[in-house]
Amino acid sequence: MTFRTVLLSAALGAEIRGLDLSRPIDAPTVAALRAAWLEHLVLVFRGQALDVEAQARFARYFGDTSETQAPDERSMKHNPDRRVLLITNIRENGRPVGFLPDGELQFHSDSAFLDCPLMATVLYAVEIPDRGGETLFANAYRAYETLDAETKERLAGLRAFNIYDYATQVKSGTLERAGLPQAVHPVIRTHPETGRKAVYVNRLMTEEILDLPPADGAALLETLFAAIERPDCVYEHVWRKGDLIVWDNRCAQHARRDFPADQTRLMRRIGIAGDVPV
Ligand SMILES: [Fe+2]
Repeated sequence: MTFRTVLLSAALGAEIRGLDLSRPIDAPTVAALRAAWLEHLVLVFRGQALDVEAQARFARYFGDTSETQAPDERSMKHNPDRRVLLITNIRENGRPVGFLPDGELQFHSDSAFLDCPLMATVLYAVEIPDRGGETLFANAYRAYETLDAETKERLAGLRAFNIYDYATQVKSGTLERAGLPQAVHPVIRTHPETGRKAVYVNRLMTEEILDLPPADGAALLETLFAAIERPDCVYEHVWRKGDLIVWDNRCAQHARRDFPADQTRLMRRIGIAGDVPV
């Protein structure tokens, strides 16, 4: 099998053309896709018609699919497959049938609040609004590389506290921390496959840097968030129905733009299990 790789921006991201993911891909092609993914961080496949099994088969080319934790009764009714997380604003009797229903989401790395966050995410667009809901991807290697030598030196060995509340779509803030998923991870992590360093704190989920006085930690976090958000670190994806994207949470962050509340957005997410960030 052959495919073409088309760069999507100077920062990161490549579109892969010429593959139909509704059918199995042979091993040499999978190896070539994986190599392209490690190089470009985000791979986009347009115009794919995929059921859950096809999406899960694709995900397994990258690693083991993860199971969503403790889904509630409501989401189980609409999606009994625990490999899948529906990200949608569809509601039944006023309550969302999936997760992360509304509006903007700040930059983050998926499930950074867990001890073993997702290594990668495979997201498929089932239904999208006419406008809005774009996903911004940031190259977290490049963000690290933009920092001056003194800052890089300060960052070595620092750890950060990550927490997130799905119910409110916010960090804990003034909320009680107990009961919310939370994890401590290095501020800068080293990608286990490429050996490159990447920023691993994010505006959505990282609440503080341990090991530093609070004001110093807050200022340092702001520097790192700003590095992630530099326009030259970011690719903005305008979704079409049938797009499939796989991204590497170890070295890329993503954010979502706002979209009209009266239009349906339905995305099917399958996560790929990761290990402890170092
Ligand atoms: Fe996400």
